[in-house]
Amino acid sequence: METRLLRAPADLDEAAAILRAGGLVAFPTETVYGLGALGLDSEAVERVFAAKERPHSDPLILHLGEPGWVSDLTPAPVPSPAEALMARFWPGPLTLVLPRSRRVPDVVTAGGPTVAVRMPAHPMALELIRRVGAPVAAPSANLFSRPSPTRAEDVLEDLSGRIDAVLDGGPTPIGVESTVLDLSGREPVLLRPGGVTREALEAALGGPVVDRRAAGTSRPLPSPGLLERHYSPRAEVALFDGPRPQVLEAMRSVAQSPGSRLLAWEEDLPLLEGVPEVVNLGRSGDPATIAARLYRAFREADRDGVRRLVVSTLPGGGLAEAVNDRLRRAASGVVRRVE
Ligand code: TXA
Ligand code: MG
Repeated sequence: METRLLRAPADLDEAAAILRAGGLVAFPTETVYGLGALGLDSEAVERVFAAKERPHSDPLILHLGEPGWVSDLTPAPVPSPAEALMARFWPGPLTLVLPRSRRVPDVVTAGGPTVAVRMPAHPMALELIRRVGAPVAAPSANLFSRPSPTRAEDVLEDLSGRIDAVLDGGPTPIGVESTVLDLSGREPVLLRPGGVTREALEAALGGPVVDRRAAGTSRPLPSPGLLERHYSPRAEVALFDGPRPQVLEAMRSVAQSPGSRLLAWEEDLPLLEGVPEVVNLGRSGDPATIAARLYRAFREADRDGVRRLVVSTLPGGGLAEAVNDRLRRAASGVVRRVE
């Protein structure tokens, strides 16, 4: 199959027609590129798993054109915290896990009792989904376990020849995936930090959101997307944490060895002179910029044959939590603490 490169607005009808016919179209969202298929059509959704080489145990997010579409996908009444969060954060980078209705095929939910839904804020994504007129299942448009794509070129790198088309909308503004919040139980559980911060959720809910790790061991691990090694470059990731001078010293030393590249915060650049390969991800006080550049830096490292990426955890809350989560997973959960 030849993968076509489509542009908006000229090719939006074409893209919608491919989806309605059961085909696969990658499209930009405000977080990362998604690989879309008709969400209530099992055969179309099966093609997503095949193209990505994704295990069927990992459920997909249904992307909606209007909040009202939720009522078809979850039994009435929609839980009131969900209503409040939808009103506050949709369209936007917040995915809600809700009890599923019978309309949702098993292949979307991995056979589980819940369904994940979100209404994306990217105008091209919204317009596409509305023209399809039905929920669009869309995981990130990468091969399983590779970093999510933030550009149409990244999608083609992984999926060229495996999908019908890519809708090119330029780089995605947020750069890390949506926040996944499970509202199917008694308390809201944060399954994946992302574009909507924990602080914003707690303010809107008027109470705490529980961490996945703290939610109790009775809950089965919901998905491989939540496994430690994920969102990873092929390069080994050496992730450091600790007081700044000591972290910089340790990073500088590890980054001297051949095949290494250091991912730096902008304000540290003068202190890293002499390190052979340094990439500036942005100021540490500006996690939005760092998030937007992170996956591209992972993919560039792989293209350049880098064997080890050297990086440190990001201070602060907000979007830094999502960045630290992706860094930790890319490092297979290993954080090197220096004193
Ligand atoms: O920002 C995003 O969410 C992007 C864009 C394309 O919308 N999509 C995305 O999809 O990241 P994906 O499939 O790469 O990640 C979805 C995550 C996975 O970790 C999956 O296991 C989890 O959401 N998930 C999906 N359905 C779930 C469910 N019913 N219960 C728990 N976790 C679920
Ligand atoms: Mg993914």
